[in-house]
Amino acid sequence: MAEFQSKIRTIEWVDTYSKMVDQTKFPDKYEYINITKGDDMFDAIKTMIVRGAPAIGIAGAHGVVLYAQELNQKNLSFSDFKAELLKKSDYLVTSRPTAVNLYWAVEKQKDIIKNDNSGDIKSLIEKLKSNGKKLELEDIEINKKIGDYGAQVVPKGATILTHCNAGALATVGYGTALGVVRSAFANDPTIQVFADETRPRQQGARITTLELVMDGIPVTLITDGMCSYFMKKGMIDMVVVGADRIAANGDAANKIGTYTVAISAKYHNVPFYVAAPLSTIDTSISSGDEIVIEERSHKEVTEINGKPICAQGVNVINPGFDVTPNELIAGIITEKGIIRPDYRQSIAELFE
Ligand code: MRU
Repeated sequence: MAEFQSKIRTIEWVDTYSKMVDQTKFPDKYEYINITKGDDMFDAIKTMIVRGAPAIGIAGAHGVVLYAQELNQKNLSFSDFKAELLKKSDYLVTSRPTAVNLYWAVEKQKDIIKNDNSGDIKSLIEKLKSNGKKLELEDIEINKKIGDYGAQVVPKGATILTHCNAGALATVGYGTALGVVRSAFANDPTIQVFADETRPRQQGARITTLELVMDGIPVTLITDGMCSYFMKKGMIDMVVVGADRIAANGDAANKIGTYTVAISAKYHNVPFYVAAPLSTIDTSISSGDEIVIEERSHKEVTEINGKPICAQGVNVINPGFDVTPNELIAGIITEKGIIRPDYRQSIAELFE
C-alpha cells in the first residue's frame, strides 16, 4: 500500500516552547506562532489559533509543560509545585468544553504529576516534556492507522463529502477524516473531496480547502446548504467527518451542521462515517445528551471578516457543535479498526 506524505505539521514542541500554525490567519497567511507561556496557550486554544480535537489535546499537554516551566521560577517546594501545576492544568481544560481530547491529554500529564514522588522539579518537567512529545508523535501514527482502515471503505474514484476540518490542521499532521482521504488518495488518485464551507467560522473553506490544495488532493468547495442537492444528484459516494466527543452509545459531537449532513446522507442512502481516535471516545457518558456544547461569540454569526451581515441588534444563538445520533452513523473509523452498530457493544469491546 502506498503511503501519503503530508507537508503539514500543525503543532510541535521545540526545546522550551510550543510551535504551531496560526489558524486565525488563514487563508491569507500560513505562518507559525511560538507559544511560550501557559496563559498564552489557554488563549491560543480559546481563540482557535489551534483548533480541532486532537490538536487541542496536544496543545493542552504542551500547556502543562509551559505552566511547569513558569512555576519552576517561583522557588516552590516540590509538593506546592505539584499542587499549583495541577490547578493550572485544571484551568487549562476550561478553555474549550466540547472536545474530550483536551481533557484526555491534560489528564495524561496530570497522572505524571500525581505519580511523581522524586522531589525533583526539573526531572518532573522533563517527564512532562517527553510525554508531550510522545503524544505528539503517537497522534500522527494513530491518524495513519485511521486513514488506512478508512481507505478500505472508500470506493474507487469516490467523491467524499466532509464537513469542517478534521485534517492535518486539526491534528498533529495527518488528519482523521482527511487522513482517510490521504490514505485513499495515495492508492487511488482518482478520488476527490467536496468540502462544506462550514459556517460560521468557515473551517471547510478556510482550512480544508487550503490543506488539500497544499497536498495536491482535488477538492471542490460547496456551501453548507448544498449537500442534499449533490447527494440527490448521486454526486456524493460517502461522507467522512471527524468528532470532538463520542459517547458510549456512539452518538458523536462534531462541528455544527454535521447532524444536518448525516440526516441528508441517511435519506439519500449515502454512507456516513465518523473518523476519530480512541481518545475522542468518552465512555463516561452514556449518550450524546450529556455532551456540553460550546456556545461561541455571536459575532461569528453576525459578521464576516469584521463586517456586519445582518440587522443590528438581531437575536443570535451560536452553538459550536451538534450531536449526530448513532443510528445515522454507518461506521466509526478508529486506529483499532472500523466499528459498526450496535455501538454500545462495539465501543465497550474496544476498551476491553
Ligand atoms: O471548532 P473547531 O474548528 O475546533 O472544530 C473542529 C471539528 O469539529 C473537527 O471536526 C473535530 O475536532 C475533529 S478534528 C480531527
